Amino acid sequence: MAFYHSDVADEFQAVNQLILDSLKSEVGLVENIGGYIINSGGKRLRPVLVLLSALASGYSKGTDHIKVAAVIEFIHTATLLHDDVVDVSALRRGRQTANAVWGNAPSVLVGDFLYSRAFQMLVEMADMSIMSLIADATNIISEGEVQQMYNAGNPDLDEQIYTEVIYRKTAKLFEAATQCGAVLGGADESIMKAYGKHLGMAFQITDDVLDLEGDVKATGKNIGDDLAEGKMTLPLIFARDHSGANESRLIRNAIETRSADKFDEIHRVVSESGGLAYSLDRAREHSELSKKALRALPESVYKQVLLQLADFAIARDA
Ligand code: IPE
Ligand code: IPE
Ligand code: MG
Ligand code: MG
Ligand code: MG
Repeated sequence: MAFYHSDVADEFQAVNQLILDSLKSEVGLVENIGGYIINSGGKRLRPVLVLLSALASGYSKGTDHIKVAAVIEFIHTATLLHDDVVDVSALRRGRQTANAVWGNAPSVLVGDFLYSRAFQMLVEMADMSIMSLIADATNIISEGEVQQMYNAGNPDLDEQIYTEVIYRKTAKLFEAATQCGAVLGGADESIMKAYGKHLGMAFQITDDVLDLEGDVKATGKNIGDDLAEGKMTLPLIFARDHSGANESRLIRNAIETRSADKFDEIHRVVSESGGLAYSLDRAREHSELSKKALRALPESVYKQVLLQLADFAIARDA
């Protein structure tokens, strides 16, 4: 069990049970594909964020935090099914992706099933503020993925657009998870909102570094997927702008042709330009801002775990 699960172990078990129960479908293939990705693990970070934020915000009665946690993990899982189709990824959570096993169409359709099941669960809860937060986040994630898709192959992408994209596609769901926790606990939403946003930004910048530097055995994902899809991530943006003409051209060509063929050379150029160090610095800044956001939050064991998660988001190898 990861360190962030131990203080919410019972609730976390209830979340996992609810996830499994909510996967039920009369159509066998839905359950097969949904179960395949759900049961392949994953860090279960976002549902834990809901639990910890709710409890750190004073939530003490009922099981709504468990329901919202399961809903957030369903939405996350749906985005992964769709994302692996868009990114033509072959490995996820140490297994072949659903698109590699069943093809693109089943992955997209089961992603739709998970999104809509999540909203059925929210309708049952009938909490308009939670529903509104999660509906907006889900909508914005799609915008982020579309924005990234139409910028794929563009070697001129700058840090400002990159930042917008990662806020939408990743940080928004972190922000919604922690903000829902504050709503459930009846606490000031702005603290948890800022915490989740910066945590998500730190998390995605680190993910983009791991796409160049990660160990497939730890991440369970192939490296070089961003390059192969022409995604100009922060380490590449920095290296493009802070290395010689030949090195810069190497990066531009890889992005334009959407090719990871020169991965090793590009990895070296990015590293020598300081692009990895720069990205890790930006990630660290967001991690610090997420911790700073929690200053006004009353002390609790849950707050301590949230603070530790801010360190984990940038120090992780998976
Ligand atoms: C992967 O998220 C998608 C990103 C936003 C980078 P996670 O790294 O949380 O994936 P799992 O759930 O642990 O597999
Ligand atoms: C993931 O970004 C964002 C969403 C799933 C919405 P990535 O494409 O970098 O995530 P991984 O690396 O495939 O997990
Ligand atoms: Mg991807
Ligand atoms: Mg992607
Ligand atoms: Mg990635």
